[in-house]
Amino acid sequence: MSNRPYIVGNWKMHGTRAMLAEARAIDRAAERLLKVEVALAPPFTLIHATRKEAELIAIGAQDVHPADGGAHTGDVSASMVKDAGASFTIVGHSERRADHKETNALVKEKAEAALAAGMSVIVCVGETEEERDAGKAEAVVARQLTGSLPTGDDVAEKVTVAYEPVWAIGTGRTPTVEDVGAMHRHIREKLESIYGEAGASVRILYGGSVKPENAAELLAADEVGGALVGGASLTAESFLGIIIAAAEGEKD
Ligand code: PGA
Repeated sequence: MSNRPYIVGNWKMHGTRAMLAEARAIDRAAERLLKVEVALAPPFTLIHATRKEAELIAIGAQDVHPADGGAHTGDVSASMVKDAGASFTIVGHSERRADHKETNALVKEKAEAALAAGMSVIVCVGETEEERDAGKAEAVVARQLTGSLPTGDDVAEKVTVAYEPVWAIGTGRTPTVEDVGAMHRHIREKLESIYGEAGASVRILYGGSVKPENAAELLAADEVGGALVGGASLTAESFLGIIIAAAEGEKD
């Protein structure tokens, strides 16, 4: 794992080939911002074309099926997205947990399928507003980590965790920097109890309404190793604002 900040764009269900120009612009600018590791997760339909546009940034998928192939109409496996040019996949995003009723056990199977295909994986966790208000945020996230993270020898170096409070996604609201730091410290402890020493170097991203204007302070919170960015990754202009904030926060 590198210790450069890792800034990942999640295009969700946005993008046709007309958006490849944004990917190209992000890739060209990333060349001048080598202090930051940049990645994009476009929809399945754009993975191959985005890979061809991008020389420097990593391209990933937003989900994979737990099986490697078979009679699963409409689904896509890890080896398929890898073949299309993806080197990583997101799994367990809260929108998939909600829209497709994905359980922790299923998210773990998907993560393990991605690792088996030779990819790395970003496992998303995060509490709802109701859970935070009830004082259960840390317990919920701990349960998600225990249930969703892949296990096995030497897997930690292929894993990134994204902490995304559900109530902060696409809402323009974010937790305070103190709350982000507290949750990230909690996640670090959990990672060390799951992976032992290797858990100390797993990257933990913050996600949820990250924008050029708030990126610097969120990225400076304790144990934040980067950001998973939805809406603000859809144009090169706003995504680059976040990447530049990450680069400026790095010491030479
Ligand atoms: P947002 O989404 O940046 O639009 O809030 C983040 C995410 O869901 O990954």
